[in-house]
Amino acid sequence: METRKRAFLKVIILGDSGVGKTSLMNQYVNRRFSNEYKATIGADFLTRDVTVDNKLVTLQIWDTAGQERFASLGVAFYRGADCCVLVYDVTAPNTMDSLDAWRNEFLEQADPLHHDEFPFVVIGNKTDIQAKSEKNSVTQSWCSGKGNVSYFETSAKNGSRVEEAFQTVAQKALEQD
Ligand code: GTP
Ligand code: MG
Repeated sequence: METRKRAFLKVIILGDSGVGKTSLMNQYVNRRFSNEYKATIGADFLTRDVTVDNKLVTLQIWDTAGQERFASLGVAFYRGADCCVLVYDVTAPNTMDSLDAWRNEFLEQADPLHHDEFPFVVIGNKTDIQAKSEKNSVTQSWCSGKGNVSYFETSAKNGSRVEEAFQTVAQKALEQD
C-alpha cells in the first residue's frame, strides 16, 4: 500500500438549483448560513481538514451550479473525485426525482473504475422547514438499490446532521482513495 502523510480527497456536490449545496458547504466549512440566495456560477471549492480513523485528511469540496446542469464543467472537473454528494430539497420533492440524472451524469463524466461501487452520499436538505421528507422512504430505497450510497437529512440553516453527513463523506472518500 502507498504511504503518505495526508490524504487529499476530492468531493463534488451536485443537485438542482436552490437545494442548498452552497449553504451546506458553508455551514460545514465556515459554520455560517445566509438566507440570501445567490446562484452559484461555475464551480468553486473550499477545504476542511477532518480526522477519519485517526488519520488527518483534507477534504477539497467542490460546489457546483445547479442551474448550468453540468454543461460547462467538463470531464476533467469530475476526474479523480473520491466521493460525490447528491443534494435535494425536502420541501421540493421534485428535486429528489433529479437524483438519478445527477448520479448518471457524474458516473458518465467521472467514469470511475467500478460505477456500482463508487461512493455517493445523498442529502435531503432544509429539515428546519419540514422536519421529515415526504420522500424519505422513496429515497431510502433508491439509495439501497444503488449500492454504496448513504442518506442523511440535514439543515444547512441550523446545522442539523451536517457534521454527520460530511463525516461519512470523508470516510467514504478515504476508502475510495
Ligand atoms: P445553486 O447555486 O443555484 O445551484 O443553488 P444551491 O444549491 O447552492 O442553493 P443555496 O445554498 O444557494 O440555497 C438556496 C436558498 O435556500 C438560499 O436562499 C438559502 O438561504 C436557502 N437554504 C439553503 N439551505 C437551507 C436550509 O437548510 N434551510 C433553509 N430554511 N433554507 C436553506
Ligand atoms: Mg450554489
